[in-house]
Amino acid sequence: MLGSRGGWRALRRCASVPRAVRLRVREALGARRPADAVRVQGWVRSVRSQKEVLFLHINDGSSLESLQVVADPSLEKKDLTFGSAVEVQGKLVKSPHRMQNMELQAEAINVVGPCDIWSFPLKMKERHPLEYVRQFPHLRCRNNTLGALLRIRSEATAGIHSFFQDNGYVHIHTPIITSNDCEGAGELFQIETSREAKESVEKTHFFNVPAFLTVSGQLHLEVMAGAFTHVFTFGPTFRAENSQSRRHLAEFYMVEAELSFTESLQDIMQVMEDLFKTVTSTVLSKCPRDVELFHKYIAPAQKGRLEQILKHKFMIISYSEAVEILKQASQTFTFKPEWGCDLQTEHEKYLVKHCGEVPVFVVNYPYELKPFYMRDNEDGPQHTVAAVDLLVPGVGELCGGSLREERLPFLESRLQRLGLTDAYQWYLDLRKFGSVPHGGFGMGFERYLQYILGVDNIKDVIPFPRFSHSCLL
Ligand code: 4AD
Ligand code: MG
Repeated sequence: MLGSRGGWRALRRCASVPRAVRLRVREALGARRPADAVRVQGWVRSVRSQKEVLFLHINDGSSLESLQVVADPSLEKKDLTFGSAVEVQGKLVKSPHRMQNMELQAEAINVVGPCDIWSFPLKMKERHPLEYVRQFPHLRCRNNTLGALLRIRSEATAGIHSFFQDNGYVHIHTPIITSNDCEGAGELFQIETSREAKESVEKTHFFNVPAFLTVSGQLHLEVMAGAFTHVFTFGPTFRAENSQSRRHLAEFYMVEAELSFTESLQDIMQVMEDLFKTVTSTVLSKCPRDVELFHKYIAPAQKGRLEQILKHKFMIISYSEAVEILKQASQTFTFKPEWGCDLQTEHEKYLVKHCGEVPVFVVNYPYELKPFYMRDNEDGPQHTVAAVDLLVPGVGELCGGSLREERLPFLESRLQRLGLTDAYQWYLDLRKFGSVPHGGFGMGFERYLQYILGVDNIKDVIPFPRFSHSCLL
């Protein structure tokens, strides 16, 4: 028997024995034909030892489903436990089970890395709640739910890139360390060297000016839209805000797009809606089993809702209409709805409910509420800018965008009033040298995942809970 480690090595050394073909679990499960000499590597998800036969399930992260291994009980060994890393060699055969296409008949099992099941926090065949696995950021990716989430996240990332590349956008890596604070986008993290942090004397800056972690790539994208017409970026952004909520992170990923020669907010909303629908359809078709896990156990009914949403146009209401709806609501709000005030989470929730629990665009916000770069609608007496937020059920604001103020005199006078003229000379230059009507938006990637999968806490859709959590992994 080649069950022992020594036997396995001997098999490898023997030149006359051809090296078995290595298959990922996903490939083995989807194989069309049986194969004589294959090897599969992964982590044991279950071990069931019977008198006549030993069953294992092996998972290598390539799919939600594990591969069933059927072995002679003589191949069982002490360290072949749940959680251990193994390499199994044998024959891939048709499985007699209805639920599984193929299974592996083991000829040799090698325990590559044993696992101490007593101290391992994940337990065999247990459906651990998300709150429980959140305590083990370094191990939770081996849990089915987090595994599914991370595969979905990977597909959605690829889907976002494909969507923009297929539509003629140029991908730009906008800077992560920047001196621009994208005025008004969010609270900043300032960066300094460890020496600067220690010195109590007058601070010198590493870059001679204060530098921050980016809150948005928008202003850099606007530069690029002035040369490439349609551009996008998809990278980490940082906000120093209280991240104790279910929908705020200190570090999150944002998808941002900027479109030149665009005069209407409608065009920007169309891209937001197309992006959402295309990427969601891709995710649903590329990882149906992973998505099903969420729609079955985490958010039942989300599947049907999502299918409906993909079929219908998103709703559009103006900020002023939104305030009227809120004023007429029978519900009493903690923050009284008033024209000119920010929409609070309770207001956003009410609005999407009022509209039938579907995504809703809210357009044309008060001029005074929004950052300097948003385009003046020149209306009155309720003065607005061409801004748009996309609100979705359960999450609130998913996207924020606007037409940008492309008219030099408008921008100059607004910056002057804010005392920002010097800092934004370069931005004013963009309006002096071939300025065009343009606009863009940003979508929070984690909030997107939260919404399509129906996940309550944003910390459960990121690979590592990072600084939003007490563990600084
Ligand atoms: O609405 P925001 O602040 O928009 C901007 O930063 C624009 N400069 C984007 C642009 O026009 N290019 O952020 C965009 C989106 C929000 O709608 C939200 O989904 C997400 O980013 N977001 C967060 N997600 C997780 N945690 C946080 N702390 C977030 N802050 C914003
Ligand atoms: Mg916003």
